[in-house]
Order: sequence, then structure tokens, then C-alpha cells
Amino acid sequence: MKGIVFTEFLEMVEDKFGYAVVDDIISKSELPSNGSYTAVGTYSSHEMIQLVHNLHINSGIPLNVLYEVFGEYLFGSLNKAYGQMFNGITNAFDMFLAIEENIHVQVKKLYPDAELPHFEVSLIDENNLKMIYSSERKMGDLAVGLIKGCLAHYKEQATISKNQLSEDGKNVEFIITKTK
Ligand code: HEM
Repeated sequence: MKGIVFTEFLEMVEDKFGYAVVDDIISKSELPSNGSYTAVGTYSSHEMIQLVHNLHINSGIPLNVLYEVFGEYLFGSLNKAYGQMFNGITNAFDMFLAIEENIHVQVKKLYPDAELPHFEVSLIDENNLKMIYSSERKMGDLAVGLIKGCLAHYKEQATISKNQLSEDGKNVEFIITKTK
């Protein structure tokens, strides 16, 4: 998992919970990196899973809520870091339709070691879009947060319904329905 995901996560934790909590979750996790990350480095996704887990223990906030809130925050960070990839994309549905064929393809070119999910995206009609998420990392809740962050970025409103396609969390279907 790319370092930018870790640096942004720890920045968000520091902003929302304070440095003592950053210190606590790093010290309670078993981290081959020792908790020092650079944006361009690459680290095991197990480090992220442990950090989020320990934030859940520390704060009592449910895991899915933590992943979602982080996903919303991360979308803004990706926009700042990779603004040029957003060029020409003017609404949320266009972004969702571009992730698999364009955005994550560019990410993979930039970082051949990036571990990206697979998305199958189809437009049902002008107000409804279906996305099927598949990934060994089981981060469907992070995807929900990124979807919410994307809707907020384009100032759009929609509901997201989530349907687990497998019990292990590796395959999740989302239906995104515009509400205005
Ligand atoms: C709504 C839009 C998006 C969704 C739903 C989405 C979804 C995800 C998810 C769920 C992951 C975590 C890895 C996994 O689950 O296997 C991920 C990783 C990533 N995505 Fe996206 N993404 C979106 C847009 C973007 C954009 C706009 C960029 C950059 C311009 C981007 C760059 C990345 C990067 C750098 C990673 C980390 C890869 C790694 O750690 O190796 N994504 N994405």
C-alpha cells in the first residue's frame, strides 16, 4: 500500500484525535516500518489494517465508520496530490466511470507496485450507477468513503446502498442513486 495512504491517515488522526492517539496506535501495532512513512514508499496493507483497528480500540468508533471517514478525507488528499488526473472529469458519475479504465491505470503507471482494487462499473440510467468492488484487501468501507468524498467534491447528493457479494468482504456491490 502506498505511503500517501499512511501519511494522510496519520495526519487525519492527528487532526481529529491529537498526537497522543497517533502515538498510541503506532505503539500498539506491530509495524515493520516502525510507523515512519514517506508518501512515495510502499508498505504492507496489514500495517494500515492494524492502525485502523487500534484506532477503533482507542476511540470506540466502529471500524466501518473509521474507514469511511478516512476515505472521505483521502479523496481530498488525492485531489491535491494528483490534480492533473482530475482534468476533464466534471461530475461524480464520470469519476466513478473513469476509475478502472483511467484513474487507477494512471496510478499503476506511476507506481507499478500499487495494489489497486478491481471495479466493474456500469451506468444503469442517468440517476443510478452500479459499482462492483473486488480486492484482496477487503476495503469496501474505504471505497464507500472515497465515493462520499467524490460526491462532496462535485457538490452532488446521492445515496449509496451496499451489498456484500461474498462473506469475506472481498466483493461488494454499490448502487449509487442521485437524490437531486
Ligand atoms: C471514487 C473514486 C475512487 C474509489 C472508489 C477508489 C477506491 C480505492 C480503494 C478502495 C483503494 C484501496 C485499495 C484496495 O481496496 O484494494 C484505492 C487505492 C488507491 N487509489 Fe483509488 N479510488 C478512487 C479514486 C482515486 C483517485 C481519484 C486516485 C488518484 C488520482 C486514486 C488513487 C489511489 C491510490 C494511490 C491508491 C493506493 C494504492 C496502494 O496503496 O498501493 N484513487 N482506491
